[in-house]
Amino acid sequence: MDFYSGTVSGLLLLLLLSLVIVHGEIPTTLDGPFKPVTVPLDQSFRGHAIDLPDTDPRVQRTVKGYEPEQISVSLSSTHHSVWISWITGEFQIGDNIKPLNPEMVASFVHYGRLRFPLTHQATGQSLIYNQLYPFEGLQNYTSGIIHHVRLTGLQPNTLYYYQCGDPSIPAMIGDASYANLYLTNGTGSDCYSCSFSQTPIHETYQPRWDYWGRFMQPLVSKIPIVVVEGNHEIEEQAGNLTFAAYSSRFAFPSEESGSSSTFYYSFHAGGIHFIMLGGYIAYNKSADQYKWLERDLAKVDRKVTPWLIATWHPPWYSSYKAHYREAECMRVAMEELLYNYGVDVVFNGHVHAYERSNRVYNYTLDPCGPVYITVGDGGNREKMAIMHADEPDNCPEPSTTPDSYMGGFCAYNFTSGPAAGKFCWDRQPDYSAYRESSFGHGILEVKN
Ligand SMILES: *[C@@H]1O[C@H](CO)[C@@H](O)[C@H](O)[C@H]1NC(C)=O
Ligand SMILES: *[C@@H]1O[C@H](CO)[C@@H](O)[C@H](O)[C@H]1NC(C)=O
Ligand SMILES: *[C@@H]1O[C@H](CO)[C@@H](O)[C@H](O)[C@H]1NC(C)=O
Ligand SMILES: *[C@@H]1O[C@H](CO)[C@@H](O)[C@H](O)[C@H]1NC(C)=O
Ligand SMILES: *[C@@H]1O[C@H](CO)[C@@H](O)[C@H](O)[C@H]1NC(C)=O
Ligand SMILES: *[C@@H]1O[C@H](CO)[C@@H](O)[C@H](O)[C@H]1NC(C)=O
Repeated sequence: MDFYSGTVSGLLLLLLLSLVIVHGEIPTTLDGPFKPVTVPLDQSFRGHAIDLPDTDPRVQRTVKGYEPEQISVSLSSTHHSVWISWITGEFQIGDNIKPLNPEMVASFVHYGRLRFPLTHQATGQSLIYNQLYPFEGLQNYTSGIIHHVRLTGLQPNTLYYYQCGDPSIPAMIGDASYANLYLTNGTGSDCYSCSFSQTPIHETYQPRWDYWGRFMQPLVSKIPIVVVEGNHEIEEQAGNLTFAAYSSRFAFPSEESGSSSTFYYSFHAGGIHFIMLGGYIAYNKSADQYKWLERDLAKVDRKVTPWLIATWHPPWYSSYKAHYREAECMRVAMEELLYNYGVDVVFNGHVHAYERSNRVYNYTLDPCGPVYITVGDGGNREKMAIMHADEPDNCPEPSTTPDSYMGGFCAYNFTSGPAAGKFCWDRQPDYSAYRESSFGHGILEVKN
């Protein structure tokens, strides 16, 4: 077989690097709690999940030559269109790697409502990316050929069949991933900074991304995904290049939503307008992201999409000790704008636990503010977040709280309310409605 056949239906799976939301039907009220689905913790978990080893059949390459693998479907900005992505050819890692020529394999998708014949055809683009480390002893990586093709003219609630690959090539020729918890030689750790404090740069093991793509294919080749960057995707390399794997491997509805970046974009799904924002790129008023957000919010028609949901990685309203008030500069820069446009719900990841807020604005309960939901509990080999900043001796020293990559310091002591004059509350904050440390995922159902 030199191409892959799959189906796509009208389901949406939104994947925020450890946040997973699935919705089929769309409640017009959000009074009830968004329920975490809890996976019971048995002793063997010991507070963290375990990466599949390189030898696990689910992460090994099963195709030959230039047959497609790591196939996924991503949403475009409206239901009329989706992206199909896949990889052909082997990645290389080590010395003397030679990047493949992306022109060598064509990017074709045949699709239609019947299995035979597939009446529609679309072509797209192909690319490769490199992860290079100019340091003695570190290994470089070059990816297989990554293909992205956009299908258009689709009807909602309709099952489509598709086939991707290059039919001209005969079969004989040939935070998601947490790849940054590994050295380039494939040795991993549950805590990079504890185990590998001497490395000249924060290394990664890029084949973990290929393992992720293979492991996820049975799901994401049928149900569309949407991703937004987390800190584990920074993956700094030579030339201070960052986010190469994230920006190359996934398809984003950026152009379709008027964004010039893979780090922020928007789309409609059912009655929801989703806005995806970047916590690890410039977000202040003069930044492109902020200007794009203003334009995008101004275009939202609440008659068409009554619900407005925003999503980004590091939470603004989290009461756990881990990452406590880490993203305050982003909150100070963007909260007023999101509030003015009546954002209903915000989803975040980053903190490895679950927490749901009351409606809040600028740390004050406000019936017009969004509900903030942190679902960073999708599973990872780092530890779960268990301690709360309001417990005795857990309040971090304020100057230690900003993320060094994001920079800035905006986390000043509260000026009003029960915690006035202090950096942390001395009980569960009023803005925190419910919190639970467990592995799990959430299901968001929106009706009408
Ligand atoms: C990796 O790539 C960098 C940048 O091109 C280069 O300086 C370095 O020597 C390469 N390392 C190996 C092991 O080939
Ligand atoms: C990878 O490098 C680390 C640090 O130098 C070393 O401890 C480890 O044994 C190496 N692993 C392999 C598989 O070579
Ligand atoms: C690249 O990053 C290093 C530190 O990681 C910094 O010293 C250097 O100025 C940066 N270079 C550029 C061109 O931004
Ligand atoms: C939020 O509260 C702080 C402290 O009370 C105040 O200085 C700031 O102006 C408020 N921000 C907005 C956007 O209302
Ligand atoms: C945004 O502005 C704040 C102060 O207004 C500053 O501390 C911070 O560094 C800026 N952040 C970025 C990413 O430009
Ligand atoms: C801020 O609050 C912390 C404790 O929460 C306290 O140690 C510190 O002195 C306060 N800083 C100011 C400027 O009041």
